[in-house]
Amino acid sequence: MSQLSTKHLLGIKDLTPQDISLILDTAVSFKEILQRPIKKVPSLREVTIANVFFENSTRTRLSFELAQKRLSADTINFAAANSSVKKGETLLDTVNNILAMKVDMVVMRHASVGAPHFIAKNTKCMVVNAGDGTHEHPTQALLDAFTVREKLGDLAGKKICIFGDILHSRVALSNFFLLKKMGAEVMVCGPTTLIPKYIDSLGIKVEDNVLKALQWCDVANVLRIQLERQQLKYFPSLKEYSNFFGINMDLLNKLDKKILILHPGPINRGVEITSEVADSEHSLILEQVENGVAVRMAVMYLLAGNVS
Ligand code: CP
Repeated sequence: MSQLSTKHLLGIKDLTPQDISLILDTAVSFKEILQRPIKKVPSLREVTIANVFFENSTRTRLSFELAQKRLSADTINFAAANSSVKKGETLLDTVNNILAMKVDMVVMRHASVGAPHFIAKNTKCMVVNAGDGTHEHPTQALLDAFTVREKLGDLAGKKICIFGDILHSRVALSNFFLLKKMGAEVMVCGPTTLIPKYIDSLGIKVEDNVLKALQWCDVANVLRIQLERQQLKYFPSLKEYSNFFGINMDLLNKLDKKILILHPGPINRGVEITSEVADSEHSLILEQVENGVAVRMAVMYLLAGNVS
């Protein structure tokens, strides 16, 4: 199979296991190209892409932009904070004005769940979800999977535990869908108040003891506490959270094996992860960022190929 089954990348939920394997395999080729002195290919030189970000981003926005440049696409960047959204322009009007400039693909981040799906339904362009509220962040899950696959091989049977604020995390939901589709075993670990009620229906284990969760897993994917999405108080204090659920070197030293540490970023040093762990040989955090460019190249290359 050399084509995706979908015109858009709105979520991992919509992808088949074959789609996921195709994206990850294609990303391997792009990563090889990114090691060369000339890191650019002409694959998307006839494609124009708009990066439309209604929420803050460092990694995702820069990674998409660099991936587009490496593929020779023409790109424009929109940040809501300094746009006419501030004058009351609607989401659909904003995107339709961008598309009027002959744009083929929109990469969108939005605080509202379903915003990229709404644009996909109401316009003719290809849409890539770069994170919609607490819903999905599909390219993050793909780059996490790519990073694990590179270190441990096939995801089937691997034990991945996601730690922290599962309730507010789009990274967690996209990882659940991807890991289950690819046959991995999945666990979550965090305060009961931050574990969503739907977790059992996805066949995901729950553990509230950090040491037991670390002993179980091959890979720990550590998430940030998303205070900006929390209207209620879910735990007494960040200090208390760190004491009970933070990943530190004392915990890792108690294990009889070496595990891999992922984190999607941004990290809050000293809260969910200590600097000692984040900067240790266990940590793949910067490798995730590096792999993100190749994975996003693969996504945009395959989507563009579906219509050309
Ligand atoms: N991982 C991630 O989405 O980071 P940014 O919010 O900086 O894009």
